Amino acid sequence: ASPFSRDAALSDTFSREESELADIDWDNLGFGFIPTDYMYMMKCAQGGNFSKGELQRFGNIELSPSAGVLNYGQGLFEGLKAYTKEDGNILLFRPEENALRMRMGAERMCMPAPTVEQFVDAVKATVMANKRWVPPPGKGSLYIRPLLMGSGAVLGLAPAPEYTFLIYVSPVGNYFKEGVAPINLVVEHELHRATPGGTGGVKTIGNYAAVLKAQSAARAKGYSDVLYLDCVHKKYLEEVSSCNIFVLKDNVISTPAIKGTILPGITRKSIIDVARSEGFKVEERLVAVDELLDADEVFCTGTAVVVSPVGSITYMGRRVSYGEGFGVVSQRLYHKLTRLQMGLIEDSMNWTLEL
Ligand code: COI
Repeated sequence: ASPFSRDAALSDTFSREESELADIDWDNLGFGFIPTDYMYMMKCAQGGNFSKGELQRFGNIELSPSAGVLNYGQGLFEGLKAYTKEDGNILLFRPEENALRMRMGAERMCMPAPTVEQFVDAVKATVMANKRWVPPPGKGSLYIRPLLMGSGAVLGLAPAPEYTFLIYVSPVGNYFKEGVAPINLVVEHELHRATPGGTGGVKTIGNYAAVLKAQSAARAKGYSDVLYLDCVHKKYLEEVSSCNIFVLKDNVISTPAIKGTILPGITRKSIIDVARSEGFKVEERLVAVDELLDADEVFCTGTAVVVSPVGSITYMGRRVSYGEGFGVVSQRLYHKLTRLQMGLIEDSMNWTLEL
């Protein structure tokens, strides 16, 4: 049987359950899926409210082939992280922001959503049940993946009659194979990620399927990922497949404004606040692709990628380089944010939740 089949995963889990820390190679975590012990499930009928969620052993779930999520993409996901502090306690980073974003997305996708309190309580319960999978300090984090999906059966196009909220977790290290080394992006000028009036501003699953083609082509050419432009003018920066983008010029930090086609990243918002608290001017505005030509630093932000320096961007065959390592400013912002997330400095922003 495959090591990922339900029975194998469960018996493996049972035999290791007593150990303090899961027996994996903590020094070499990437961003691949590692099955853990428990997941959280909560269901709700269309027009009803979520209630009676519970932890279950991690395993495959049963869905009707006619489920709304499988047929018409009625689904959302979230991503957040838990870190182990030096004292052994666990810190969550702004989980209520993910809850609120899921509620916004659910409204757009015609789905009921858990309350902020239900969402945060479920995240806490799932993390505590999988405590032995939270990496030790400095080794990475536990990535928490909440899902909301139309699990009820439909055939004609309509909102599903039943919804499932599910959370699973997996220990992770760096997102990009480059580690913390700068990534190399290519600007995509034909395919687009989002359209005005579409769903680019919510974390619906289809947004991520839509970027795979350009991402795969870019990776095949040796780039780390793709930077998308707006689909109307084909001129303004939007975001990278899995993260938001920031440009620094003369100590002013600029990032594309949130206007429905860009994912309102929680790391994006946090970095804006951290930068302002450090005295930087931050502008949320239209950022033209030409501004990449003379930028001092470019970096990406996201839960998965944290703050990733961009080493080069290629646009219409022309490559602009930003240097070998982290830029001075992006390094400073990365350092401040991650110290705060790991509980290594005082949380003056009141962003962390200690379990
Ligand atoms: C995250 O940063 O948490 C995301 O949801 C991006 C995903 C493609 C890994």
